[in-house]
Amino acid sequence: MATTTTAPATSSGRMAAVNEMTRLLRLLFEVEREFLRTVTTLVYRVGEPELKYLVCQHAWESAGHARFIRERGRELSGFGTGEAVRDSVRRVFVEAVGHAKSDPLVLTAGFYEVLKPALLDAYRHYLKVTDHLADWPSKKLVEEFIADEERHLREVAPFLKGVDAREWKLHLTQALDDLGGWLGQETRLPLAAGYVWQQDKTPYAHPATCNRGKYPVCSSIFGFDPTEDPIVRPWLTDPKTDARVIRMMVYVWLMMEMDAIDYLATAFIDTPNAPFDLHHDLARHLWDESRHSQFGFRQLPKLGVDLMTVEHSLELYNILVHMPAHERYAMMTMEFEAGSFPTKAHVMDRVRELSDFEADTLLAFDRNDEQNHVRFGHRWLPEMMAQFGETRPVEEFVKATQEKFKQMAKTYGNLTPHSLPKEKRLTGEKILKLATAN
Ligand SMILES: [Fe+2]
Ligand SMILES: [Fe+2]
Repeated sequence: MATTTTAPATSSGRMAAVNEMTRLLRLLFEVEREFLRTVTTLVYRVGEPELKYLVCQHAWESAGHARFIRERGRELSGFGTGEAVRDSVRRVFVEAVGHAKSDPLVLTAGFYEVLKPALLDAYRHYLKVTDHLADWPSKKLVEEFIADEERHLREVAPFLKGVDAREWKLHLTQALDDLGGWLGQETRLPLAAGYVWQQDKTPYAHPATCNRGKYPVCSSIFGFDPTEDPIVRPWLTDPKTDARVIRMMVYVWLMMEMDAIDYLATAFIDTPNAPFDLHHDLARHLWDESRHSQFGFRQLPKLGVDLMTVEHSLELYNILVHMPAHERYAMMTMEFEAGSFPTKAHVMDRVRELSDFEADTLLAFDRNDEQNHVRFGHRWLPEMMAQFGETRPVEEFVKATQEKFKQMAKTYGNLTPHSLPKEKRLTGEKILKLATAN
């Protein structure tokens, strides 16, 4: 027999106080997980790396909030076993995603000046209406999440200075007012008859390329010509290469995990029916890559590299965006990540010659994280495939996808010209000069 979805009247009356709080927790879970699914579309659309990093971090923290709420919710009766987000919540978040022509900073303002403050209000409301002794476990969580949400707003505020998003914020505010806030805790203001949902007019699609703002770009940073490319492949393995050169190259390599951030972030919105745990682990993966990229982004200037001379490679995003999300994910975990270990191991051994504890630490954590990512891949690729109705055995699918990628690379690869002439850009030759200067 199917489990009953409505409790008998007597028991629901008896448990009314719990049921009401569980209802709110369930809404908060859905809001957090849908925030995660949609805010990630900002990552590759905003150009400032620091803002990308922040959004990745906040996405991961939201995944944490959702996970702990789900855990707490399941201790209470009436949370439900499903994880689906109700349409009324989903509709507002999907609206906030905007479309291809939207200004990414205006969209960021929508998330961080309308939807997130409303979430903060919702948490504060929860704290106000729940019993602090009886519902202590939820209270502890919510108090912590309030501090997180306040910090998120503070952290993003500097990026939104001078951004005129009044019209867009009003548009989203109206959608939210129609619900009476995320928890329905405010007076509902029904939508005006003339309200037009953008998502019905112009559905969202991924941009053909990712945004790197003021930074110079190129197709790839890997190559064989020290007068052209920053990471000279044979130098990485040549025992005669100065270890300081290898260290600088690996920081460029790490910084360019920014492309992993950008293409991985596309996977959330494309999997609206994924189990929450999949998005949770993808969020972890995303945040890890954003930290790896920061390893390079923060270390290179300390070694005397001007970041305005380091071209960003757009190749992988530009190719992968033409493949569906499960194929992107297969390439990422089963090809790029799984295939990177031998070279990275060699690089780590060379860097250790320098007795640079910080570099050793960053590389060790990078390696540890990457091992987890491959594990995530083994766990989630079959589920990703299922989301897209892919029924071939995993191994066969991965092989076919690798072939497809090669074909796609012929069409969409190598299309981004160098922003900088080779005299100006960071190349192997320049790295050699900089790294061995003293
Ligand atoms: Fe990484
Ligand atoms: Fe990774």
